[in-house]
Amino acid sequence: MIDRAEEFRKDREALRRRAPFAGRTLAMLFQKPSLRTRVSFETGMTLMGGHAIYLGPEQSRLGERESVEDFARVLCRYASMIMARVFGHDIVEGLARHSDVPVINGLSDFEHPCQILADLQTIRARLGGLAGVTLAFIGDGNNVAHSLLLGGALVGMNVVVACPKGFEPAAGVLRDATELGRASGASVRVVHDPLEGAAGADVLYTDVWASMGQEGEAAERREKFKGFQINERLVAAASKRAIILHCLPAHYGEEIDYAASRLPCSAIFDQAENRMHAQNALMAMLMGV
Ligand code: CP
Ligand code: NVA
Repeated sequence: MIDRAEEFRKDREALRRRAPFAGRTLAMLFQKPSLRTRVSFETGMTLMGGHAIYLGPEQSRLGERESVEDFARVLCRYASMIMARVFGHDIVEGLARHSDVPVINGLSDFEHPCQILADLQTIRARLGGLAGVTLAFIGDGNNVAHSLLLGGALVGMNVVVACPKGFEPAAGVLRDATELGRASGASVRVVHDPLEGAAGADVLYTDVWASMGQEGEAAERREKFKGFQINERLVAAASKRAIILHCLPAHYGEEIDYAASRLPCSAIFDQAENRMHAQNALMAMLMGV
């Protein structure tokens, strides 16, 4: 998929001409806000000759206006694929269970796999490979951390999560990532000191301290996460070839320092662009085109 995503990145014109998704529609369900996910999926569908429909919280009101089961059963009668950004992970699983067409997780409270496809594409393009690369995730053991642990371990990357005590990734994810790492040769580690996590890392990655749905905890988290920030001190501790990643949106001055985010080693905007290419490759695979 990453090879394909790179091919797509290098020649947008070829995709526009070929229009492999002509006549196909992606239904996009959003329970939460989005810039990158919505726009990258929608522009991706347009580029590939297809169409995307945005269904916001007002149209969906899942479990209130319509059950998850009926929503999926109806949508798959019209659309070729469904993409969903939801709160509970059980919702995206429920959609997948009741849909006859592929369902893509566009972020749940538990995982953000499309983000990680783009991240792996970006890391490979910048560092020349994935196996043996060490990635340090600095911050909350959240959905993005979960998907990085699983995706990273799958491709042989060592993943270190540096988080405050009490904000570790889910035990089940750590177990699964460790298991995947056993097959690929990757290691998985959790530490509670950001500097220790960053030491010698090839990729410094961070995400917001309070995710969507945790707005009420933001002030408390600001206290607990102090110091879990990508800044010059952490960059100096990382490997010489280290790159900086952030899935965005960023809260400058919290999990990342603005100046660090603009260093030449920062790939945050390549990463955002690659969302579209990686997802196009994913959808091409799902559609068999
Ligand atoms: N990284 C990401 O998923 O961004 P959005 O929340 O803007 O979609
Ligand atoms: N962890 C963040 C990721 C945003 C792309 C959130 O869930 O809000």
